[in-house]
Amino acid sequence: MKVGIIGASGIGKHHAKWFGLAGCDVTAFTGTSRESCRHTTGVLHDLMGFDGRIYTDYRDMLDQETLDIVSICSPPETHLDQIRDALQAGLHVYCEKPVTWMSAEAISFALTPCPSSDISGPSHPTLQSLLEKTRIALAPALTGQSVFGLNTQYTAVQQAYKTLYETHRGAMDVIEKVYFILESKGISGRHNDFEGIWADMSSHALSQLIAWIPDGSLDLGSISCIIQKNQTVARFKYGSARVEVVLAKNVQSVLRRQFGVNDFLVDYEGKADDQGVYRTFIHYEKDTVILDDLVQLSIDRFLDAIGDRHVKPFSGARDALKNLELSMMILERGSRR
Ligand SMILES: NC(=O)c1ccc[n+]([C@@H]2O[C@H](COP(=O)([O-])OP(=O)(O)OC[C@H]3O[C@@H](n4cnc5c(N)ncnc54)[C@H](OP(=O)(O)O)[C@@H]3O)[C@@H](O)[C@H]2O)c1
Repeated sequence: MKVGIIGASGIGKHHAKWFGLAGCDVTAFTGTSRESCRHTTGVLHDLMGFDGRIYTDYRDMLDQETLDIVSICSPPETHLDQIRDALQAGLHVYCEKPVTWMSAEAISFALTPCPSSDISGPSHPTLQSLLEKTRIALAPALTGQSVFGLNTQYTAVQQAYKTLYETHRGAMDVIEKVYFILESKGISGRHNDFEGIWADMSSHALSQLIAWIPDGSLDLGSISCIIQKNQTVARFKYGSARVEVVLAKNVQSVLRRQFGVNDFLVDYEGKADDQGVYRTFIHYEKDTVILDDLVQLSIDRFLDAIGDRHVKPFSGARDALKNLELSMMILERGSRR
């Protein structure tokens, strides 16, 4: 499988590494300038032996390379055109979260006034329009022509979490409560205030929620969402569960990432193991489960889904669309403090 990466200097370099380790051939990547691409080439060469081609426009890469997969690791507000063009070119697409987002100006407009209607989907025209464009961009994947995977990698933890839960608690029957606290160091200057943390992190929590309760729906009347400069707290009912999502910036200490259902909360930690390999550690009291890096697991699953259409990515096209819709519907009922 030949892979092209759109935006390889940030998390994209890890995509290149994991695709390479899975046996794919990363033949090209894009950056914003020749200079940044030259720098990234050196980084990728050291990281995974990259010796492919560079582009400063993803459309040139799509035209000139013979790719099977495009991995999108650019800023969220650029994802949509890239997804659309790559899927229309018949390629499989792996995309970083969030599937898309809007400019800071557009979302500021969308947040006033707060809607109260009980229609399904977002109320504001800006949000409706973005959701519709996303549906159109994802169409080849929604109809099964190509595979689309969204990198909300915490869904890769779910099987291990369930085993841990059942060891301590017995069978997981009804999910009555879902809780997340996800801290982030910040988002590189993009959307740095208010809704920025929601744009950056909510898709992680929502993708797990969708995976836990696949046929759930959002109770619009139950939503409370308080948006502060460094923290957003959303509470709502989704299917059988009362959900609380706490997203916070933390630039001072070790990031807290804790989640679970029915008050069975585990702590996530990503760090190098004794052999220096970056891994996932899931802690519950004195128990620790060690998994491969979650992005690696998610990319492996995406590749499995390409090889066998009975296998689904941890978060596929339909999940990505639902994720965006939920994210918008909760946020537009938020209030800034
Ligand atoms: N799943 C996770 O845990 C996780 C963690 C971090 C980030 N992410 C997501 O990954 C994506 C990228 O984030 P990042 O932190 O890696 O960002 P970043 O460090 O800013 O890197 C963005 C990459 O995109 C390129 N780029 C910038 N503007 C572009 C444009 N207008 N068109 C095309 N390419 C452009 C940059 O090119 P240059 O190389 O020229 O600078 C760079 O390679 C975001 O969607 C973010 O939410 C996910």
